[in-house]
Amino acid sequence: MSEVMGRGRERAERRRESKQLRSEAQERPSEGQGPILELVKGGPPKHAPGPDGWPRGFYVNKAGLYFQEEPKQEGEPAPAPVWLGTPIEILGWARNGASEGWSLLLRFKDLDRVDHDFILGRDKLAGDPSIWIGEMMGLGWKASRNPKQRSLLADCFLNAVPEGRIRTVSRTGWTDDGQAFVLPSETLGEGPEQYLLTPRPAKNIFSRGGSFADWTKTIGRWAIGNHLLFFGLSASLAGPLLKLLGGESGGQHFFGDTGTGKTTLQEAACSAWGRPDVFGLTWKATDNGLEGQAASHSDCLLALDEIGQAPERTIKEAAYLLGNERGKARARQDGSGRQPAQWRTITLSTGEVAFAEYLKQAGVHIRGGQAVRMIDLSADAGAGLGAFQCLHGFNGPAALAEAIKKATKENHGWAGPEFVRQLLAMPDREKTLRAIFEKMRAALTPDKAAPEVARAVQRFALIATAGALASRWGFFEGLAQDDGESLLAVQHCLKAWLAARGGAGSHDEAQVRARVLGFLLRERAMFQDWHDDRVPPNQAGFRRTIGEEVTYYIFRETFKDEICKGLNHGQAARGLAAQGILKPGEGRNLAQNVRLPGLGVRRAYVLSLPEDDEAGMEATPPL
Ligand SMILES: Nc1ncnc2c1ncn2[C@@H]1O[C@H](COP(=O)(O)OP(=O)(O)OP(=O)(O)O)[C@@H](O)[C@H]1O
Ligand SMILES: [Mg+2]
Repeated sequence: MSEVMGRGRERAERRRESKQLRSEAQERPSEGQGPILELVKGGPPKHAPGPDGWPRGFYVNKAGLYFQEEPKQEGEPAPAPVWLGTPIEILGWARNGASEGWSLLLRFKDLDRVDHDFILGRDKLAGDPSIWIGEMMGLGWKASRNPKQRSLLADCFLNAVPEGRIRTVSRTGWTDDGQAFVLPSETLGEGPEQYLLTPRPAKNIFSRGGSFADWTKTIGRWAIGNHLLFFGLSASLAGPLLKLLGGESGGQHFFGDTGTGKTTLQEAACSAWGRPDVFGLTWKATDNGLEGQAASHSDCLLALDEIGQAPERTIKEAAYLLGNERGKARARQDGSGRQPAQWRTITLSTGEVAFAEYLKQAGVHIRGGQAVRMIDLSADAGAGLGAFQCLHGFNGPAALAEAIKKATKENHGWAGPEFVRQLLAMPDREKTLRAIFEKMRAALTPDKAAPEVARAVQRFALIATAGALASRWGFFEGLAQDDGESLLAVQHCLKAWLAARGGAGSHDEAQVRARVLGFLLRERAMFQDWHDDRVPPNQAGFRRTIGEEVTYYIFRETFKDEICKGLNHGQAARGLAAQGILKPGEGRNLAQNVRLPGLGVRRAYVLSLPEDDEAGMEATPPL
């Protein structure tokens, strides 16, 4: 009975307490505090926030962060303040675009008076304070070791109501509204809020050295007349255009013999954003964490050197991931979904042989769409000078390469952010960009381009647009400010790519054609001559010569199960029909109903090859 009465008293006391809390909360200004006010309402009254955002009783002075309890009775002296830690500043509450992941952004100095920003996750405040206090102490902050005072610290940070609000973003580059561009140590442009990249990168890869003027006088100037170098620099600056022009992420792979200048091209491209040996990556380094690397280079350049050092697994993963713009969805330990990493990047890769070759070695069958995700470009510019065509007074291509490498170490980190600043200041940005892009696309699109070629041309046009803008904005010292050089450089690369792939037709169609011709060449003995009764073992069909033309009648099973193994045979047949090689049947039938000697009427795929194609079959390598 007394226990019940006791519980009743407890309840009455709790009601009194919550009434007092409600009236205190009403006294506080509510404007602009949003949900935080709700959190404060639930907190103990002694921690209601003061005017500066610190909870009541907490304050900071030169000596540190203190808590002073209020006197128990009015008129009594207040108890002595308790020291909790060295001085600290609360910059604001941070949260992501979905209003999740609330954290307090704190700033303090270490023993050398170096500033540190620390993101204290609100979720951590629910647990053992020694965990996050330990992390802060590791950065040079000093805190009381007294457990009571540590618990006060948790109360202090939980109930703080600073005015500052910060939006956290998980990748570099444009904010969703396109008004600001977030880099680890600065935000370019002005969005409606302050932005912060989280998790904080261990090192700032966007470091600066030397000056922009010296960059334009060296690397910028030497790119004139050197199409591959100009292309690489333009590709490096094209990252920020992906969002603005709605382009697809993807990459270019420079391949060639050792000492051609591939890494030099890549280092020059990296120097637009940071010091090449810090900003640029090797393929090997991406073995664990390509997704994270892509997110920390988002809207900029992702440079991956020396593909030969990467395990097959990484290459396969990259082929799938880089153009995908998002990582794999992973479950948290509690089974709920975690947001996959996202990015938009232009990738520059290097290696001794083509990317497609590495994929083939890794057992990946490339389809047309994939072949344009990473575009293979020979690093030999064709002038007998490796990657170069114009030496700018240097006494050889090696000397120019050495000079470029040296210049990137001295001057870096300017061009990329400057390009973004210019974009931000551009009047009528969208319309102007679109107009330049369309002009470039029209100039670059070849006749009868297959869909995947048109897709690749989009990226070439994006790069040409970046180069044209950079020319106008004086990035290449000594260059007339028109679009000519940029277009010339990109045209050079596009032409080389088209020539290497065998024209602007479809990659898939070319592959099927090669496969079929290869089969007919190798397995000629499996075809019965139209006028000969002898039936070969494992017969694949018939072969008939009329005048200059050779016609093959291929059994449906052979076409489907042997020739088109691993492919969609219907699509393959349609492709061959589009090329005029396959003579389709009536209606929608791709196979014809034909009377075959000794077999009667059967459906077969009928392929007619002009004589020169028959002869050309000798040159078609078997797949
Ligand atoms: N076009 C060139 N012609 C002759 N020598 C060059 C050329 N480019 C670079 N070199 C020389 O080769 C050195 C390495 O250059 P770079 O790192 O760009 O080569 P790479 O093509 O990446 O070679 P690797 O395949 O070995 O990585 C340079 O320091 C320079 O001495
Ligand atoms: Mg190299």
